Amino acid sequence: MHLRAATIADFEIVASWIPDAAAARRWAGPLLVYPFAASDLPAALAIPGCETASDCLVDGDQRPSGFGQHWVSQAGAVHLGRIIVAPEARGRGIGRLLCQHLIDAALHSTQATAVTLRAYRSNAGAVALYESLGFSEVASESTDEILFMRKMVR
Ligand SMILES: CC(C)(COP(=O)(O)OP(=O)(O)OC[C@H]1O[C@@H](n2cnc3c(N)ncnc32)[C@H](O)[C@@H]1OP(=O)(O)O)[C@@H](O)C(=O)NCCC(=O)NCCS
Repeated sequence: MHLRAATIADFEIVASWIPDAAAARRWAGPLLVYPFAASDLPAALAIPGCETASDCLVDGDQRPSGFGQHWVSQAGAVHLGRIIVAPEARGRGIGRLLCQHLIDAALHSTQATAVTLRAYRSNAGAVALYESLGFSEVASESTDEILFMRKMVR
């Protein structure tokens, strides 16, 4: 499997993975208003003022099984966001592979020395995944609801 830039067709597929408002919020935070048109996703997921890279994890048939973004919002750190695996593919290691590819791509295209991300504390699966990849909480930037996590890389 490998990572490649998301296409308009990919956004249609990723949109189909979001069944309701709670899932939309868990995935993309409060700024994404549900329901949304798939064609609106590229703009809705762009981070204002930041160049936002959107990538899909695909296999030989080019169909995405995972999606994520990265952008630089703090000097020296690249931020991962909107990480998601196709519902039917979860629990089989795809999320871990997706994150490893996203980290590699984010570091390759920036001069960052740290990778950051956010997750709802209630999203136990995502938090366990990020901890197992070496991310740890930055308490000063976290809230009762949201964990801000960082992994130092070089
Ligand atoms: C979070 C998500 C990306 C994980 O993807 P996945 O393919 O299911 O994860 P993997 O199979 O690679 O699992 C990797 C690790 O994640 C953790 N994990 C995944 N699902 C879990 C669950 N339901 N409960 C507890 N831990 C879980 C485990 O630590 C697991 O490691 P292990 O297999 O060694 O136990 C996926 O569940 C998803 O797309 N969720 C909806 C969108 C979302 O919440 N995105 C995160 C936004 S911050």
